[in-house]
Amino acid sequence: MRLLEARDIHSGYGDMEVLHGVSVEVGKEEIVTIIGPNGAGKSTLLKTIFGLLRPHKGEISLDGREVTGFPPHVLVRLGMCYVPQVDNVFPSLTVQENLEMGAFVLRGDIKPRLERVYELFPLLRRRRRQRVGKMSGGERQMVAMGRALMLDPTILLLDEPTAALAPNLVENVFQSVKAIRDSGVAILIVEQNAKQSLAISDRGYVLVDGRNRFQGTGREILENEEIGKLFLGG
Ligand SMILES: Nc1ncnc2c1ncn2[C@@H]1O[C@H](COP(=O)(O)OP(=O)(O)O)[C@@H](O)[C@H]1O
Ligand SMILES: [Mg+2]
Repeated sequence: MRLLEARDIHSGYGDMEVLHGVSVEVGKEEIVTIIGPNGAGKSTLLKTIFGLLRPHKGEISLDGREVTGFPPHVLVRLGMCYVPQVDNVFPSLTVQENLEMGAFVLRGDIKPRLERVYELFPLLRRRRRQRVGKMSGGERQMVAMGRALMLDPTILLLDEPTAALAPNLVENVFQSVKAIRDSGVAILIVEQNAKQSLAISDRGYVLVDGRNRFQGTGREILENEEIGKLFLGG
């Protein structure tokens, strides 16, 4: 049994179906990357898994329990967290206030969780009193991931965490993703920086036009010539 299973997902917006039967799985403590051209339905898939869109057909299960159609706040309690591509921090609040907001829906002592996030991202501890609106794109992305980790997830969904970043900061984000996984969290990540993301991934999927096109280990996808030409820039 996988930690997350999405089977034969049909989903979209109103009458417009964008996903025509997509399936993905994520094992415990795996990093899994989804790549594919713009408009393939990658973000739609994450939104559907996180309960922001209700699938027309298909099933989603988390840790063996069927969760299809469950709303985000329930999924969060069951261990799933989602970092959207944009608007994923509160710019007018400080780093620490952002992290505390992240934990706000959970009961219990937030101190140990705050400590864990600061251990993973020492920069955030140093900048804890700084307003997030004044920070760089890479630092904000750290805050967004840290905020999600305050909910103590078993699986984190990340939508293009490196999209807005200068190339020299991209690698830092992937190092953070690895560190998060090493702390015991599975990660499903959608990425345009496909090569770097696949390089740290256990497995990956290629989505095209709302359908699974290819899947394999990170290495198999990186070494596949056809995929390289079509989706990895040669
Ligand atoms: N909020 C929305 N309302 C209507 N159509 C949307 C919405 N968001 C995305 N779409 C459409 O769904 C398709 C897939 O989009 P998306 O999942 O964002 O693709 P990707 O993340 O792979 O680039 C595109 O045709 C896009 O125009
Ligand atoms: Mg997208």
